[in-house]
Amino acid sequence: MSEPAIPWTLLARRAEEARELAYAPYSRYRVGSAVLAARSPGAEASVFVGANIENASYGLGVCAERHAIAQALFGGAQTLVAIAVATEGPVAGSPCGACRQVLAEFADDLPIALVVAGKVQRHTTLGALLPDAFRAERLPRTRKR
Ligand code: THU
Repeated sequence: MSEPAIPWTLLARRAEEARELAYAPYSRYRVGSAVLAARSPGAEASVFVGANIENASYGLGVCAERHAIAQALFGGAQTLVAIAVATEGPVAGSPCGACRQVLAEFADDLPIALVVAGKVQRHTTLGALLPDAFRAERLPRTRKR
């Protein structure tokens, strides 16, 4: 059976909307993210969103991608199908190294869209951004539940 097409236009719009809710008074760099996620591989997927949330104690800030992943998990979805990340332009930002590693926890490879002004500027994948990711399988004594 063929995979359902990824609704990139919807994800781009939802990421851009989430960006408006960013709390970024220090960097003034607002980021929004929308993940398409499912309870298990192949199950019906839903959209979850997040934005960056900064703090006066700068190091405590949370990126938009990790916020959206947390929303997905607490909505009962642990399998990521796709992600859109909206930033300001002119050149779209791409997920930071920490977020790439967290994305790798919940997806084998992940199609990624980088969005500016509500439109997809570039498509990439997690495999391209984080080759040879460190994964739970490398932890001999740890089993994923
Ligand atoms: N930021 C994200 O939300 N996602 C990224 O992948 C890169 C950076 C946020 C963190 C901080 O609030 C602001 O962008 C500037 O670094």
